[in-house]
Amino acid sequence: MNYTLIFFAILIVVTSVGALFQDKAVDLNRGKKVYDTYCATCHGKQGKGDGPGAAALKPKPRDFTDKNYMEKLKDDYLFKIISDGGASVGKSPLMPAWKTSIKKEDINNVIAYIRTFAQKK
Ligand code: HEC
Repeated sequence: MNYTLIFFAILIVVTSVGALFQDKAVDLNRGKKVYDTYCATCHGKQGKGDGPGAAALKPKPRDFTDKNYMEKLKDDYLFKIISDGGASVGKSPLMPAWKTSIKKEDINNVIAYIRTFAQKK
């Protein structure tokens, strides 16, 4: 028996299973941190579209607590607008593109966090 080989085989299995979980699991605490840092100024702490920066915006950011509205938005669409900005989906260019400052996994985390605003109602 070659124990070194067995050791590496186990290591590979463990790390790949770990990576699998990391891909799927979203981290809401991370999502909140990202949201509070980058998004709340316009979208509001509670997601109502009433952040201090929103006063000057036209159109105003939507109310993320609006369940009927948010249910219609697919994750793909949310990922696209957050990553590439409002103009990329034909919306206001005042919604910035975040792909250079926010990592992919954190965009997924922030999407999961945004969805919690509508679930509380
Ligand atoms: C400078 C202000 C500003 C910041 C900061 C900002 N947004 Fe926006 N966002 C907007 C505006 C304005 C719109 C509305 C665009 C429209 O309806 O034409 C918008 C729209 C959106 C939408 C689309 C909602 C819909 O009605 O389709 C999502 C999702 C979104 N923002 C997520 C985020 C996330 C996540 C962040 C932080 C990473 C963020 N925004 C940061 C201004 C901002």
